Amino acid sequence: MSAADQLLAQVKAHGVVPRHVAIIMDGNGRWARERMLPRPVGHRNGMKAVREVVEAAIAAGVGVLSLFAFSQENWQRPATEVSALMALLEEYIQKEARELDEQGVRVVFLGDLDRLPGPQRGAVDRVMALTAHNSTLVLNLFISYGARAELVRAARLIAEDVAAGRLAPEQVDEAAVAGRLFTAGCPDPDLLIRTSGEKRISNFLLWQLAYTELHISPVLWPDFGRAELYQALVDFQSRERRFGRVSA
Ligand code: FPP
Repeated sequence: MSAADQLLAQVKAHGVVPRHVAIIMDGNGRWARERMLPRPVGHRNGMKAVREVVEAAIAAGVGVLSLFAFSQENWQRPATEVSALMALLEEYIQKEARELDEQGVRVVFLGDLDRLPGPQRGAVDRVMALTAHNSTLVLNLFISYGARAELVRAARLIAEDVAAGRLAPEQVDEAAVAGRLFTAGCPDPDLLIRTSGEKRISNFLLWQLAYTELHISPVLWPDFGRAELYQALVDFQSRERRFGRVSA
């Protein structure tokens, strides 16, 4: 039995599996630099890690996997890197759409999708439509996403509803905000993994992470695979979640 299989057996034996796992995939650039390779090669290997982690999440019984693939701030990277990432996104969809569909994965893209170039926007819309009926795993891919912008957008939507008389000010509560986020209807993450050892949230899911357990992995994202995911799940299973209350 491989180390990853042993960890999976441990996860299954414990039985508690996070319903929703979110990941800040970090370290592609450093992975490439360590090998004296251009940064886009790191991103390409990061794409392979995405494939492995999606399969591992399905095998473990995770219901929702959220991946931070491209932040609003990432638009400010050098144009060559932005276009390499956009090309990779399109390639990922082209290569993986059919298999994701066969695996029962529902692919959802969240973020300011209007900023995507035409070909990427088309590919994103196609894979969302193709897989909309699936339910084994929801794969949330955050692209052109920033949590503060998401909250500003929710505030604006609420203001519009109030101004139009569809919502009374006293009806503005947590559910009203949550229902206007990109993640409306999706349970909050139980576990957030960040790779490459950085200990930051980096404007990811600020509202949704309120009670999420954090797991920092030292592994650079292109090297993150089945064993690393299962290790994070084992770590999660050792936590006592109190949601601000005291222990039973
Ligand atoms: C962070 O590494 C990673 C990104 C900004 C991009 C993430 C993209 C992928 C994993 C590949 C494409 C994925 C899909 C779903 C198509 P970094 O460049 O910030 O690394 P560094 O901190 O070491 O420089």
